[in-house]
Amino acid sequence: MTHSELKRFGVSMDGHLLNQFDLFIRNKHYQNRSEAVRDLVRSALLDQAWEDDDQEVAGSILLFYDHHHRDLQMELTEIQHAMHEMVLATTHFHLDHENCLELIVVKGTVRDIKTYSNQMIALKGVLFGKFTAAPLKG
Ligand code: NI
Repeated sequence: MTHSELKRFGVSMDGHLLNQFDLFIRNKHYQNRSEAVRDLVRSALLDQAWEDDDQEVAGSILLFYDHHHRDLQMELTEIQHAMHEMVLATTHFHLDHENCLELIVVKGTVRDIKTYSNQMIALKGVLFGKFTAAPLKG
């Protein structure tokens, strides 16, 4: 494997946009503009990978829900059994008397994981849900 050479390129933008960018850099604690630009480019490329449903990814589904909701836990369990081949691990946190946080670590194609995560997120009683992943190479 060869090391990729560091290359430079110039960027022009209007002063207002640059001021906003510098504020963003301070808030995010980046050391310099180059570091921030690299991260933004990586993030944009990652977003693009989401458009390809056949892409193999590894990631997580985060669910935040009220466990008092009728039948919710049973429905969540059923969906997770249906997708068992994609589930690497599940962790459940009892946050307080009502709220639960569940983290499901998954691996599979974007299409398959999205199908199941959308089903879970749409359930009544699920207050927040998010599927995040990074593409797997090869
Ligand atoms: Ni709980």
